[in-house]
Amino acid sequence: MSTAEKKKIVVVNAGPRKGWNTDTLISEAAKGAEEAGAEIVRFDLFRLEKYTGCISCFACKKEKFKGHCMCRDGLTPVLDAIREADGLIIGSPNYLSELTASFRALYERLIFQNLTYNKETPCCNIHPVPVLLVMTSNAPDTLYVNLVKNYQQTLSRFVGPCETLICGNTLQVKDYSKLDWEWSMFDPEDKKQRHETVFPEECRKAFKMGKQLASQ
Ligand SMILES: Cc1cc2nc3c(=O)[nH]c(=O)nc-3n(C[C@H](O)[C@H](O)[C@H](O)COP(=O)(O)O)c2cc1C
Repeated sequence: MSTAEKKKIVVVNAGPRKGWNTDTLISEAAKGAEEAGAEIVRFDLFRLEKYTGCISCFACKKEKFKGHCMCRDGLTPVLDAIREADGLIIGSPNYLSELTASFRALYERLIFQNLTYNKETPCCNIHPVPVLLVMTSNAPDTLYVNLVKNYQQTLSRFVGPCETLICGNTLQVKDYSKLDWEWSMFDPEDKKQRHETVFPEECRKAFKMGKQLASQ
């Protein structure tokens, strides 16, 4: 496949930690997409120029700017890349029962630019971009199913068909026994064992889902 024909998949890390759970999973998904022949364009939301969530300027509601967030800041290249992409892989850790503030900033602007307030055509997105949303959490996989389902529904409606992957009970620090404060909520052995047995499975799943996303 020549470069000109390659699908472009945008990969977004909405978590701050490089090499940790969220980053690892979206990187696996990206590898899967690459195996399917796609080209990866990657953004780390915590390493961008300064940006905000939606500023409610309503410029995206004007006929001439329809579907385009007109607020210019660190998120502009991300939004531009997603608009032109063949797929979006985005991962966020769960922070206080939500996705990260960085995820939310992008999400507000990504969704709102495509939302028209028009009864007949509520969405002006003419180029659906398939999405893979990955969420990691300390809590078990089941706790945030509804939260992720809500994001899945809205992303499917305003961006493109969305699949999700939830990876719970993640390892949060390398060695729980070396902490100088007590994290009695967690069983270090249980965390370690899960990281060694279940997490690699989840990585394989992420790879497969990334490959599938790029094969659509
Ligand atoms: C500020 C903060 C808030 C968190 N809140 C939650 C939470 O409400 N529920 C939960 O299950 N995990 C919570 N966590 C844990 C992370 O979601 C979890 O460890 C995640 O896998 C971290 O991703 P990372 O390894 O990619 O950084 C929180 C972590 C931080 C730093």
